[in-house]
Amino acid sequence: MSVLKERVFSGVQPTGNLHLGNYLGAISRFVALQERFECIYCVVDMHAITVPQDPEALTRQIREVAAAFIASGVDPKNHIIFNQSQVAEHAELAWVLNCVARMGWMNRMTQFKEKASKDRENASLGLYAYPTLMAADILVYRANAVPVGEDQKQHLELTRDIAQKFNNDFASSIARNGFGDTFFPLPEPLIQGTSTRVMSLRDGTKKMSKSDPSDYSRINLTDDADAIAQKVRKAKTDPEPIPETVEELANRPEAENLVGIFATLADKPREAVLAEFAGNQFSVFKSALVDIVVAKLGPIGAEMQRLVADPAYIDSVLVDGSDRARVIARQTMDAVKDIVGFVRART
Ligand code: TRP
Repeated sequence: MSVLKERVFSGVQPTGNLHLGNYLGAISRFVALQERFECIYCVVDMHAITVPQDPEALTRQIREVAAAFIASGVDPKNHIIFNQSQVAEHAELAWVLNCVARMGWMNRMTQFKEKASKDRENASLGLYAYPTLMAADILVYRANAVPVGEDQKQHLELTRDIAQKFNNDFASSIARNGFGDTFFPLPEPLIQGTSTRVMSLRDGTKKMSKSDPSDYSRINLTDDADAIAQKVRKAKTDPEPIPETVEELANRPEAENLVGIFATLADKPREAVLAEFAGNQFSVFKSALVDIVVAKLGPIGAEMQRLVADPAYIDSVLVDGSDRARVIARQTMDAVKDIVGFVRART
C-alpha cells in the first residue's frame, strides 16, 4: 500500500440480498478505485443492528458481503476488507463525534425520518445516531474520498460538518499536539452518475431494492443463468421499440433502466447501445441483455457461492483486514484522545 496514494473508505450494510444495483452502484466502483487509491472497504455490521436483525442471518450476510467484494475483484491483500465490529475504534470515535454533532443537524437527516417513519418513538437510539457512526467510519481512517450513492450525500455532508467543527472547536489543541491547523481532512463524495442507478425490473421509477417483496424486481448476485433469463424476460417494458436517441428514453423509465443496465455492463455509452438496437422490439433487446448479465454476473455469483461455502477463509480475510485497519484507526484515536484532553497510557 503506497503512502502517496489518497485513501478511499466505503461501507456496505450486511442486510441481505445483494443485487445488480449494489453491484453496479457500489461494488464494481470499489473495484475500479483500487488502482488510484488505497482502499478500505467495510462491512458495516454495527450499522445493520440499528434495526432488528436475526443473529444467524446477520452472520451469513456479513460473510456474503465480504464474498461479494472478493468475488468482484477487490484485492484483500493490497487493500483492506473487514467488518466494522472487529475494530472497536469506530464506536470509540463515534462517541466523541456524538459530542461534536448538534441535535439540530441530526434532526435534519432524511434517512432517519424515512426509516423511523410513523413510529419514531419506537426507533432505536442507534438508528438516530447512525450518521455519527458513519462519520466515525470515515474519519477514523482520515479518508479523503468516499464512493457513495446519491442517497448517502446528506450523510457525507454531515461528516464534513462534523470534521470541520472538530477542527474548529479543538483548533488550539490540534496545533499544540503538533497536527498543524486541521486534524480531519474533509472527505470528498465520489457520487455515482444517475446513469448507473439501477431501478426495479417491475417499476422503472423505483430503485432496485433488497426489500421489494417481488424477487422479480431485482437480479440477485447469486441468481443463476435461468433465474436471470426469467427475470429479464418478465421485466416490465412499454410497447414501443428501442428508440434511436437518449432523449427519446425520457418518460420511458423501464426502457431507460434496461438500456442503462446494458450500457453499464457493456461499459459503453447509452448512445452506442441505442445505435445497435434502435428499431428492434424489446424481445430482441432482452435476449442480448440476458447474455450480457449472465456473462458479467454469472462468474461473480459462482465465485461468491464457492467462497461462502468456506466461511473459515472469509473469516480469516476479515480478521486480517481488521488487524490492519485497527493499526490506522488506533493512531487516529490516540491523537483524538490527546486533542480532546483525555489521559492515556504512553509507551
Ligand atoms: N450508510 C451507508 C449505506 O447505507 C453505509 C455506510 C456506513 C457507509 N458507513 C459508511 C458508506 C461509510 C460510506 C462510508 O449505504
